[in-house]
Amino acid sequence: MSRRHFVHFSHMTLTTKMFYTGVFCVLGVGYLAAMVYVYISHAGRDGKEMLTAQDIVIAYAGSNAGTKLESALMGPMSKMLQPDENLQIVDWVRKGTHKEEFDAKIGPLMAKRCVVCHNSSNPHLPSLEHYETVLKVAEKDTGANVHTLVRVSHIHLFGLTFIFYLVGSIFTHAYFRREWLQAIIVVTPFISIIADIASWYLTKLNAEFAWIVIGSGALMGTCFSIMFFVSMWQMWISRKAPPHLAAERAA
Ligand code: HEC
Repeated sequence: MSRRHFVHFSHMTLTTKMFYTGVFCVLGVGYLAAMVYVYISHAGRDGKEMLTAQDIVIAYAGSNAGTKLESALMGPMSKMLQPDENLQIVDWVRKGTHKEEFDAKIGPLMAKRCVVCHNSSNPHLPSLEHYETVLKVAEKDTGANVHTLVRVSHIHLFGLTFIFYLVGSIFTHAYFRREWLQAIIVVTPFISIIADIASWYLTKLNAEFAWIVIGSGALMGTCFSIMFFVSMWQMWISRKAPPHLAAERAA
């Protein structure tokens, strides 16, 4: 196939190559910073230190391990009250934390058993003095809310598209013997961006979609690295023009 308008790195001026290299390096550092951010903001949610698929599920879909209140009542707080009182509270949480029952039963019970320690004068413990503050520990963790997801998705859609537009347009000056392979590498990140963001929402419906979040992130990273290293290599290390182009020029 003729690639009449193809300009290889080897035909570029030093200025152009320096310009491309500058863009690449800063984006590369940005990419690494983003990876570190993903790691520190998600790793450990499931209690294991490393970043796992379960962490991603919890981040987007929440955890079904129950509420903070239930785990406290099963664990360290179980000695603070009678077993039947404990059951009443757990029952109230399971039935949907209704205000009437709180006012009638749960509130007074907590005032008797819990508020000595859990009051607003102790900033380190959740206050159990009022319905509203009790709800904070009695709510199911449902993961990132849709409002947050919408905000982060448009930032990602614009930001990542911009990054891969820049990286891709530099990479089109690299020479691949198999052009279809280069075309796939250029287009995969865009498909991944869409798949990634759609899966944030879909993970709320089905935890299996966490794997698509992980897979598409990995694909984007792989494509970024290939584009980065191949372009840098052909710009600065193997500076020979591809054979057929050199012949075309000479003719
Ligand atoms: C003697 C003081 C004391 C009493 C009484 C007490 N707590 Fe606690 N509670 C603590 C302390 C201290 C912690 C934090 C240490 C820990 O997590 O083990 C805590 C932690 C908790 C947490 C976890 C908070 C979080 O952010 O994870 C919940 C929920 C809780 N208590 C509920 C209760 C309930 C409900 C009662 C009443 C039945 C109660 N506590 C009675 C001292 C108390």
